Amino acid sequence: MSLMTIQHYLTRAQQQHAGATGELTLILNDIVTSCKRVAQAVNQGALLGTMGDLGSQNVQGEVQKALDVIANTIFLESNQASGLLAGMASEEMDDPYLMPEGVHGRYLLLFDPLDGSSNVNVNISVGSIFSVLRCPDGVVQPQLADFLQPGVQQVCAGYALYGSSTMLVITTGSGVDGFTLDHGTGEFMLTHPQMRIAEDSREFAINMSNQRHWPPAIKRYVDECVQGASGPRGVDFNMRWVASMVAEVHRILLRGGIFMYPMDNKNAAQGGRLRLLYEANPMAMLVEQAEGLASTGRQRLLELVPHALHQRVSVILGSRHEVERVQDYFSAE
Ligand code: AHG
Ligand code: MN
Ligand code: MN
Ligand code: MN
Repeated sequence: MSLMTIQHYLTRAQQQHAGATGELTLILNDIVTSCKRVAQAVNQGALLGTMGDLGSQNVQGEVQKALDVIANTIFLESNQASGLLAGMASEEMDDPYLMPEGVHGRYLLLFDPLDGSSNVNVNISVGSIFSVLRCPDGVVQPQLADFLQPGVQQVCAGYALYGSSTMLVITTGSGVDGFTLDHGTGEFMLTHPQMRIAEDSREFAINMSNQRHWPPAIKRYVDECVQGASGPRGVDFNMRWVASMVAEVHRILLRGGIFMYPMDNKNAAQGGRLRLLYEANPMAMLVEQAEGLASTGRQRLLELVPHALHQRVSVILGSRHEVERVQDYFSAE
């Protein structure tokens, strides 16, 4: 089997883009390096003694794992040398990270360095999520407001999944391609070209322990799935909940399904559970590029205009017909 390396793939993509400066290719190369380094840290498991909690909390009040902070540092270190970024923002940093004086890059990088970190010390898949935005024209030192761009403006987005194999899944706005890390050569190889999400599915993902807090539309949708063949849907459904969004979205890209983390009575004060800029938006771009849908239940996720860096949001994404059904139930509320 002859497979293309991610370097070859990125060079080809650049050549096909008239007027491309190559900057994005270099930025993506650095993201690839970050993901390989995080994969190494995750794979070492308990051998490094980094599986536990730190005493610290992040800006959202979550207890940080040692690996949350290690992965964050890896991303910061790997992505600043190119000089092509104007700033970075992350789940693990209260405020945007600005580049040293004299560095005037044209792009912004936002990331969730370790997604699903509650799973890391029980050896369940975790990941990293990233989103690249243009730094607004003429801005030399970006301010917080420069990061608050709607998801439709993302230049590229993707995730790495540190699972039974390490994969990288990316979009630059023309479909979604998946790469598998060959640990022998250290290369990501194009194993999943042009990933597409099936329109229909019989598999849903939601944290059922929040059922009593859900809005009526979600209660109705899940209740109908659970009734199976004897209910209004007339078919049996399956359920999965990994509690790592990266693993969940990856499964949906491969075999369809719907993922829901709605705003509910428990998380309403925060606006939801998942973060808009570095979790929901990059995943929404991937899902739409793979012909699925990504919604809050009431509107397209990618069109939301953010008002805060760590803003949370209701997320419903995956197979087109299932997401449409949930949206219909919200409109009927
Ligand atoms: P993170 O580890 O980056 O804070 O994100 C965890 C997120 C997401 O990956 C997952 O879908 C969700 O939290 C799980 O939440 P519950 O523990 O409430 O199920
Ligand atoms: Mn977290
Ligand atoms: Mn996350
Ligand atoms: Mn995280």
